[in-house]
Amino acid sequence: MVDSDIQTCGANESSQTNMTRQGNVTTVIASTLTLLLCLCSARGDYCEVNVCHNGATCVTGVGDDPFICICADGFSGDTCNLTETGPCSPNPCKNDGSCEVISPTRRGDVFNAYVCKCQPGFEGAHCQINVNDCVDQPCKNGGMCRDLDGDYNCQCPSPYVGKQCQLRCISLLGMEGGAIVESQISSSSVHFGILGLQRWGPELARLNNQGIVNAWTSAAHDRNPWIEINMQKKMRLTGIITQGASRMGTAEFIKAFKVASSFDGNAYTTYRLDGQRRDKVFVGNLDNESTKTNLFDPPIVAQYIRIIPVVCRRACTLRMELVGCELNVYSNTAGCSASLGMKSRLISDGQLTASSTFRTWGIDTFTWYPQFARLDKQGKTNAWSPAHNNRSEWIQVDLEKTKRLTGIITQGAKDFGVVQFVSVFKVVYSNDGEAWSTVKEENSGNDKLFQGNIDNNTHRKNLFEPPFYARFIRVVPWEWHERITLRMELLGCDD
Ligand SMILES: *[C@@H]1O[C@H](CO)[C@@H](O)[C@H](O)[C@H]1NC(C)=O
Ligand SMILES: *[C@@H]1O[C@H](CO)[C@@H](O)[C@H](O)[C@H]1NC(C)=O
Ligand SMILES: *[C@@H]1O[C@H](CO)[C@@H](O)[C@H](O)[C@H]1NC(C)=O
Ligand SMILES: *[C@@H]1O[C@H](CO)[C@@H](O)[C@H](O)[C@H]1NC(C)=O
Repeated sequence: MVDSDIQTCGANESSQTNMTRQGNVTTVIASTLTLLLCLCSARGDYCEVNVCHNGATCVTGVGDDPFICICADGFSGDTCNLTETGPCSPNPCKNDGSCEVISPTRRGDVFNAYVCKCQPGFEGAHCQINVNDCVDQPCKNGGMCRDLDGDYNCQCPSPYVGKQCQLRCISLLGMEGGAIVESQISSSSVHFGILGLQRWGPELARLNNQGIVNAWTSAAHDRNPWIEINMQKKMRLTGIITQGASRMGTAEFIKAFKVASSFDGNAYTTYRLDGQRRDKVFVGNLDNESTKTNLFDPPIVAQYIRIIPVVCRRACTLRMELVGCELNVYSNTAGCSASLGMKSRLISDGQLTASSTFRTWGIDTFTWYPQFARLDKQGKTNAWSPAHNNRSEWIQVDLEKTKRLTGIITQGAKDFGVVQFVSVFKVVYSNDGEAWSTVKEENSGNDKLFQGNIDNNTHRKNLFEPPFYARFIRVVPWEWHERITLRMELLGCDD
């Protein structure tokens, strides 16, 4: 509906004088005037004469009309010369609340002509109160509560997990018990003792292992030793128990170590505490027999975990156990399908980016930022829209850590009355923001084309089957109505 011939210009001086006379609307006008930095062209057109009143913006080149006026709040009519009257004009409800006119009622001394219907998380006659969703202390076991719009988020201390930190993630994963089998354990090197007859292999690194040869030891020449456990699927790890061993009457053990983890066995991340720039060095053992437990707080979600000795006594010798749980064990009761925070703002503005943004009629005030792509957002510009309508455009969410994604809800919007939406889209994702994978059809292996919206408002939900893990998610619009325009929510859980 918009092309490069469109010109915009503001109300002229006489209409400003008009407006100022209206006293109480002066502030509205002042703010409106800031967007009227006139882009009038030298070519004669309807917008060069005073056609739009009361601080309206005049636009030519749209559709069949010679011009249209975009009215400031509180005005209406083709030329914005009518004052909107009625209790809902302008909208007295805050925080995206919608206003409804009701038949006048008298309640005590208060005269009501409208009611505000509030968005979740807001209350009060004008939805002016942001409800503190933390007030009932929903987070158990020392979890830190953060108030969101209509929701809360618990930051759980390890080893507690779950929406309310109500579950303990403390299973022993099977080094001692044997659930982790030989073939899952590997190492950078192996020490062979007594003329090469004793093999101190990684498969022996089991807590409380007995016998003469009862632990893993790295080769003496190995400058960068490590031992690795492949858990065969992504698991949540909340701790590690380590133990040394004695060889020929002397104690050998790892005094300090680092931990690295990986999803795929190729790219590894060394464990750091939140906000730290240095690798965490864990304090290990002091003798050949006693155990030392270290917690991972925050927990590690990974398939592969590596223990990297930093300081060893005599040799790098280890028996160990891993502590953690399956990922789906702690998903909240609704399964792994919680809203990840587009609507509730757990996902902050800074986490949303896009290939480009559109400005209606080139006006800054009507910019369709990626930060507006929140499900059910209200307002004149209330969605993301890119500068161009082609298949190179995308909107990105950085979840800041890897989460399990199980679905997406999408929604269109209206731009000054024009219904716009994305009818087909692709989803791509990444763990590092550099290497991207596209969600595929399970059978054919082709890129999956998700069916999107059909109108300006209905929520359309698509599930990711199977779910995937990612930190970065991009929605790539593939087909659309009028212009690419998107509001959305991501579904998943905090794995
Ligand atoms: C508003 O403008 C229209 C023409 O554009 C005119 O017919 C109408 O009388 C005006 N209304 C008022 C209240 O000035
Ligand atoms: C190993 O630990 C046990 C129990 O603490 C102790 O009795 C023994 O002397 C230790 N052996 C060596 C070689 O340090
Ligand atoms: C999309 O539009 C932009 C700007 O016009 C252009 O640079 C880009 O090549 C286009 N991409 C496709 C796939 O057409
Ligand atoms: C846009 O959505 C609203 C709210 O659901 C609905 O009332 C309206 O009819 C829709 N408009 C069009 C043109 O589909």
